[in-house]
Amino acid sequence: MEKCQGCNHFKDGKCGTSTCTVEEEINPFNKINKVIGIMSGKGGVGKSTVTAMLANALAAKGNKVGILDGDIIGPSIAKLFGVKGPTHNTEKGLLPVVSKNKIKIMSMNLLLPNETDPVIWRGPVVGNVIKQFWKDVFWGELDYLLIDFPPGTGDVALTAMQSLPVDGIIMVTAPQSLVQMIVEKGVKMVQKMDKPILGVLENMSYVQPPGYPEPYYLFGKGRTKEVVSKLGLEFLGGLPIEKEMVELADVGKIHQHESQLFINLAERVESLLR
Ligand SMILES: Nc1ncnc2c1ncn2[C@@H]1O[C@H](COP(=O)(O)OP(=O)(O)OP(=O)(O)O)[C@@H](O)[C@H]1O
Ligand SMILES: [Mg+2]
Repeated sequence: MEKCQGCNHFKDGKCGTSTCTVEEEINPFNKINKVIGIMSGKGGVGKSTVTAMLANALAAKGNKVGILDGDIIGPSIAKLFGVKGPTHNTEKGLLPVVSKNKIKIMSMNLLLPNETDPVIWRGPVVGNVIKQFWKDVFWGELDYLLIDFPPGTGDVALTAMQSLPVDGIIMVTAPQSLVQMIVEKGVKMVQKMDKPILGVLENMSYVQPPGYPEPYYLFGKGRTKEVVSKLGLEFLGGLPIEKEMVELADVGKIHQHESQLFINLAERVESLLR
């Protein structure tokens, strides 16, 4: 039990989970209330965008929020928020960089001399960096730590899932049917590891240009919801393809994008974790 002190699952002198597999030590200077993983079975469906926008919405609601960019090979969180390294080491740990809207960020890009330098490492090394981002970073007190998971269901995602005390996973998908097959794989992997899935979010569901009265569902409507209910999971809704969000993301100003849809999502996530 001693190693559980400080874990977000350790309440009233007891571990709150019956199936804890978390191997990693806790940084004694961190007090993190809830850890949310944003995951998908496939790359490019919008995990990083959703992580950033959900962090914005949780922060706008007055929470202390951090983002651990678990995508070591293809990090994008620092770029989305326009933050740059170097980070500084202190006796309590490595300091995250803070965005304009006060989100604490740790990402591989902040440690590279040049953000275009590639990370050419094998899986076990990458897995170790994720673990270090958990225990060697001085996150301090946080209401929510969001983890942008490495893409897919491979080695590194597995290490992240096993090593960090995740309270809930949000599975992101896109509406095409191939993606849905892959999302099922992701869901089954998480379930096999006994980690709680908060729900499945469909990104890039529809477009609604200004002046158009109805949303247009490019790849058809309702398929994800069907797959999700077949799996007995919560459908967290569909998000539109948004030009303005991408424009701000591309120039490192995603913190400026306000979205009622993400505020609603943040409220739902907060209530699912309560
Ligand atoms: N709702 C959206 N509307 C428009 N473009 C979007 C939306 N969501 C994501 N995108 C764009 O799609 C691309 C992929 O998104 P993102 O990087 O968030 O995906 P990812 O799942 O994190 O990818 P990877 O697996 O490579 O990490 C980006 O260029 C992003 O700006
Ligand atoms: Mg990404």
